[in-house]
Amino acid sequence: MTVLSASILAADFAHLEDQTRTAIEAGVEWIHVDVMDGHFVPNITMGPIIVKALKPLAEETGAVMDVHLMIEEPDRYIEDFVSAGADIVCVHVEACRHLHRTIERIRALGARAGVTLNPATSLGTLEAILPDVDLAMIMSVNPGFAGQSFIPASIDRVRRLRGMLDTIGSTALLEIDGGVDTSNVAEIVAVGADVLVSGSAIFKGDIAMNVEALQKAVTVTV
Ligand code: DX5
Ligand code: ZN
Repeated sequence: MTVLSASILAADFAHLEDQTRTAIEAGVEWIHVDVMDGHFVPNITMGPIIVKALKPLAEETGAVMDVHLMIEEPDRYIEDFVSAGADIVCVHVEACRHLHRTIERIRALGARAGVTLNPATSLGTLEAILPDVDLAMIMSVNPGFAGQSFIPASIDRVRRLRGMLDTIGSTALLEIDGGVDTSNVAEIVAVGADVLVSGSAIFKGDIAMNVEALQKAVTVTV
């Protein structure tokens, strides 16, 4: 089963709870929280208080809080995000000097640990850590903003990462993030993604209709 993770970065923050609820009621299972610090990426977005604010909704509906840290020195904030209610904490290989320690720390705090990498970072940087993660994510845009175009080479990266996970018998989930919409979801799923992050394609326009369209597009054979 393919899971949809709604990136709230593309939501209307004046109606964040309402819009997130609408997405969940339409079939979204995860809430994707994009944390940006103005250093690792140019943009500044949200911190643990947003995770905490949406946690009651997640508990009520069974949604998973999927937190994507695009920040320098993520170790300094992992505990705050887990305390706020993060179920998954995903860090960038580029931001972690001691990635194995960071992954162990996330798990020791009781959350699932994810790892991701920028579009120009070699997949080889994931190889040593893959046996220790619960989730591995391909960035299909350069991190920093919602609403960017999908980088086509990401399809092959998903395919290769799927192969790496299968080779070691890993049950880690394969997530993809950035520019995911109805035009590319079928192919992304066909090459092995389990979790699809989508921001603009969910929150711009009619949320329920958008979620339904994405779900339909996933089932189209490519
Ligand atoms: C990009 C973020 C993504 C983004 C997804 O830095 O990590 O999660 O918000 O939004 P769309 O689907 O609009 O590309
Ligand atoms: Zn993200």
